[in-house]
Amino acid sequence: MVNIVIFGAPGSGKGTQSEFIIERHGLHHISTGEVLRDEIAKESELGKIADGYISKGHLIPDELMIDILDKLIDDKILRKGVIFDGFPRTINQAKALKAMLNNRGTDISAVIGLEVPENLLVERLVKRGKESGRSDDNEETIINRIQVYHNNTAPLMDYYKQEGLYFPIDGGTTIEAISDEINGVLTEILEKEANALV
Ligand code: AP5
Ligand code: MG
Repeated sequence: MVNIVIFGAPGSGKGTQSEFIIERHGLHHISTGEVLRDEIAKESELGKIADGYISKGHLIPDELMIDILDKLIDDKILRKGVIFDGFPRTINQAKALKAMLNNRGTDISAVIGLEVPENLLVERLVKRGKESGRSDDNEETIINRIQVYHNNTAPLMDYYKQEGLYFPIDGGTTIEAISDEINGVLTEILEKEANALV
């Protein structure tokens, strides 16, 4: 089965588009942001640690994050195929993800990169912040999250381009148009994988 990374800046539409992909292709969704927000809601020890980073727009340290992800991946969900949303966010995380998947006899099939102009990202997140209740959806933290994305996460684009896995998508159009474009790319990848098995 295929494992996909949905990649992009905060507010680029990773969560929104993941829902369409799950519906169309039946993949299992792992959103590290959602996992952490659930822990915060439960007021667990991990949630308390995560909250300190998230509310400031900082990344959770790699070692902790990789450990969390490792516990979320098992053979059952890998049989279905996984869409990774919000992970990896650093080169260290990308290398760890590859190792985790290779150890389980699989790999990443594609990285779907949602490319969105910065003014649109801020606009979308400020708008969502009016009702989301997310501690990181205020203007100051939004700017910080985008800066962290540029410093730590954007270099992954070149990393995955070199691996031949990066598929850029114009993420600045309508939700429907973006979904159709992603669907075109994924359909091709799924066909290739299916042919490789024959
Ligand atoms: P995470 O939850 O991953 O948040 P994020 O990357 O900041 O992105 P968002 O979830 O805000 O945006 P999205 O790209 O999913 O867009 P969405 O579909 O929601 O991470 C949160 C925090 O957790 C991090 O800052 C970090 O602290 C921590 N964390 C998580 N993973 C980590 C990791 N691996 N390592 C370390 N730390 C980690 O859309 C946004 C809005 O725009 C919505 O309101 C939506 O309705 C709207 N919208 C979407 N598409 C369109 C469109 N085409 N047109 C108009 N509006 C649109
Ligand atoms: Mg999201």
